[in-house]
Amino acid sequence: MSDMKGKKYFLIASLILISFCGFSQKFEGLALTPPMGWNSWNDFGCDVNEDKIKEVADALVESGMKDAGYEYIIIDDCWHGERDSLGFITANPEHFPSGIKALADYVHSKGLKFGIYSSAGYKTCAGRPASRGHEYQDAMKYAEWGVDYLKYDWCGTEGLKAEGAYMTMRDALYQAGRPIVFALCEWGNDNPWEWGANIGHLWRISGDIYNCFDCEFDHGGWSSWGVLQILDMRKGIRKYAGPDHWNDPDMMEVGNGMSVNEDRAHFSMWAMLAAPLIAGNDLRTMSQETKDILTNKEVIAVDQDSLGIQGFKYKIMDSVEVYVKPLADGGLALCFLNRGKGSQNVEFDWSQNTITDDVFDKKYDFGATQYEIRDIWAHEKAGTTKKELKVTVPGHDVYMIRLTPKKK
Ligand code: GLA
Repeated sequence: MSDMKGKKYFLIASLILISFCGFSQKFEGLALTPPMGWNSWNDFGCDVNEDKIKEVADALVESGMKDAGYEYIIIDDCWHGERDSLGFITANPEHFPSGIKALADYVHSKGLKFGIYSSAGYKTCAGRPASRGHEYQDAMKYAEWGVDYLKYDWCGTEGLKAEGAYMTMRDALYQAGRPIVFALCEWGNDNPWEWGANIGHLWRISGDIYNCFDCEFDHGGWSSWGVLQILDMRKGIRKYAGPDHWNDPDMMEVGNGMSVNEDRAHFSMWAMLAAPLIAGNDLRTMSQETKDILTNKEVIAVDQDSLGIQGFKYKIMDSVEVYVKPLADGGLALCFLNRGKGSQNVEFDWSQNTITDDVFDKKYDFGATQYEIRDIWAHEKAGTTKKELKVTVPGHDVYMIRLTPKKK
């Protein structure tokens, strides 16, 4: 046999072997920037039905959120009905009489994408039928219905190992053949940042968010967490995040009852963290202030920056923390977060602050390079780094700026 022929046979044999082994992987490239969209859980909880979801999809378009980059409409827990006689999952017939396929078609007709929820255990967190033992059947159904995003929870998983359980669903989705963003919702119990990148596109790093800026809500045995509490969790995991594999500090509570300052700070910090921006409020009734926060394109640009580097805490100045996020254009975003309730004056002398990011090998030397400053909440220029920065940051609020290297 000639050498060429030998190579050819070897290639064909390898391909056959790979297809017999059911070679599996995640669908690559579906979340090169953090996913953006809306999820039903934070405001609606189990009170979901097809009319509401359609109205929210309409509102997402009409409010300008679609133009600002929000894409996914995701139904969280409680859409489920029973499994049929063959074990296939169905939708709750009372709340989703037209079925999930019709709803997904509606969402798609708006130029949006459609997401759904299940759990790796026998039951979802609200006690609905979950995917354990039915992973391949569920993945087939999702593909048939036109699902584009799966949030996969961790309730009811007694005896399971997280990495293996999530791998099973990843493989099932891959075999079903429809590209679906895979969002791991394992709450950070088993360090998903260490193994999640080959399995999904994002992973929750914490228990559930609670609609408060600075609190822990004890449910008796488990807690939900305020914005600052989530921000302070899991130090040192930013190195694991990047395009197509994100740390997820949970869906947003913007518009759900915090003050406007707090909502602004929450949104800004999620952008600094390169977090998925999944709104969790009722888009049909939101105030103009909420809309303005959620659609601030300059903040969104920081979140969606193509470099995909998660920001870090650079400095603490009394109640103000300074966060830094390197950006693709050679610039950076800075966010002065006032954790205190009272306002605080900030003086920041650029010549005294060379910022280095050792994890991603970045250095910003303001003595060597001058930067233009843009205030991205006021939407205006704010001088350069030649002059010391002096601002007052209100309580539970931020001063957020974008720095771009000045052209010589
Ligand atoms: C868990 C998740 C939440 C939500 C609920 C639904 O608590 O972490 O985000 O999906 O389940 O029951």
